[in-house]
Amino acid sequence: MKRDSFGSRFGALVAMAGSAVGLGNLWRFPYLVGENGGAAFIIIYILLSFIICLPIFVSEFVLGRRSQKNAYAAFRDLSGGSAWKYVGLMTVIVPLVVASYYSVIGGWSFEYLFKACTFSFNGSQASMSSMFTDFVSSPWAPLICHTIFLLTTCLIVVVGIKDGIEKFSKVMMPLLFFIVIAIAIYSVCLPGAKAGLDYLFNPDFSKIDGKAIAAALGQAFFSLSLGFGTILTYASYVDKKENALFQSTATAVSDLMFALIAGMAIMPAVFAFGLNPQSGPGLVFETLPFVFGQMPAGGFIAILFFVALLVAALTSSISMIEVAVAYLMEEKKFSRIGACAALFALCWTVGTMCSLSFGPLSDFTIGGRTIFDFFDNLSSNILMTLGSLLTVIFVGWRLKKTDVYDEFTNGGSLSTNVKVFGVLWFLIRYICPLAIIFIFVYGLVA
Ligand code: ALA
Repeated sequence: MKRDSFGSRFGALVAMAGSAVGLGNLWRFPYLVGENGGAAFIIIYILLSFIICLPIFVSEFVLGRRSQKNAYAAFRDLSGGSAWKYVGLMTVIVPLVVASYYSVIGGWSFEYLFKACTFSFNGSQASMSSMFTDFVSSPWAPLICHTIFLLTTCLIVVVGIKDGIEKFSKVMMPLLFFIVIAIAIYSVCLPGAKAGLDYLFNPDFSKIDGKAIAAALGQAFFSLSLGFGTILTYASYVDKKENALFQSTATAVSDLMFALIAGMAIMPAVFAFGLNPQSGPGLVFETLPFVFGQMPAGGFIAILFFVALLVAALTSSISMIEVAVAYLMEEKKFSRIGACAALFALCWTVGTMCSLSFGPLSDFTIGGRTIFDFFDNLSSNILMTLGSLLTVIFVGWRLKKTDVYDEFTNGGSLSTNVKVFGVLWFLIRYICPLAIIFIFVYGLVA
């Protein structure tokens, strides 16, 4: 049977950007920037994104497009069937873990969109916080939302690459950018918005230490969906004529732009109402609903914001499920629908435990962490970094240089790629592995 593929350059690009742009951009990046020195952190983030993360992105792209296979088979076949296939297997399993807890938060976005549509954000700050706490700690409501979100994800994936993931991303990604730009324009025009812009963009180099650098790298990995098979899998559906450097750079730039615009949408509004920003769920589900309740036309802005959050989460979660769908179809001979059903059952079960860890299972801990925090920490702080490290080592030290050159330059036909290959190869072989090890170890020690 012919393998499904993206139908156009734009389709492949928006799908990859969709995988990258997600909750990480909306609820972590703006806060990390403000906490870690504003523009100083942004400069470090940009440097790390392009010197360390872009070569890793290109490495995953090369593996996927060279092999035209799922992540497991890519490592297996390109290493001549060696034990590297277990690295491939790891990159199939990790996105499933992430998809499981990610869909719990995706479910919260769904609930909050419903709340926005029924204009429920009109209480005090304390009442917004208790609304959130009551919701996440109740046993049923978050589970129903988690189920709806995961089901929606699987229903998009089941339609296929060109007709499902690509079509959805082509419509939703431009909409997502449009909504976030509109909210950013509105937000920076609010009286008192300047404090939020200062928080984001005033450079403070004294805050740049090893911890800030480790935070920037961790965020860049998560945000670009590196080290867990998604980019590799999407690249395996990209036409051989496409340019690996262009696709990778365009995705990294879109992801960065989106994160910056998200910061400008959120922080000026938070500061305009004299509030302190938080990170993660607290920012999006407690602080912002209160802000929406205060601002002129806030009811309408809230609906737009939660549509954006839901879309950003969906375009990322579909890429995570697709990694294992490709594996099950190609290696275990599942039909697409069978693979989606099996993965729905698996992620639903793990996600249910994560969801209940905010309520009935909150006392159950693994290594001092709740189930949700355990999976989040294990995957985003450890397994993604490990996946990225092993990917660059595999491409830089196990593949033949001529093969990487051939895939990266489309057989020597792309003149810019030919020119930059030497630098890229040096970064992949030496700088990326050393930087990842250094920052990872520093992060653990710190
Ligand atoms: N890259 C995705 C995000 O930023 C996982 O949320």
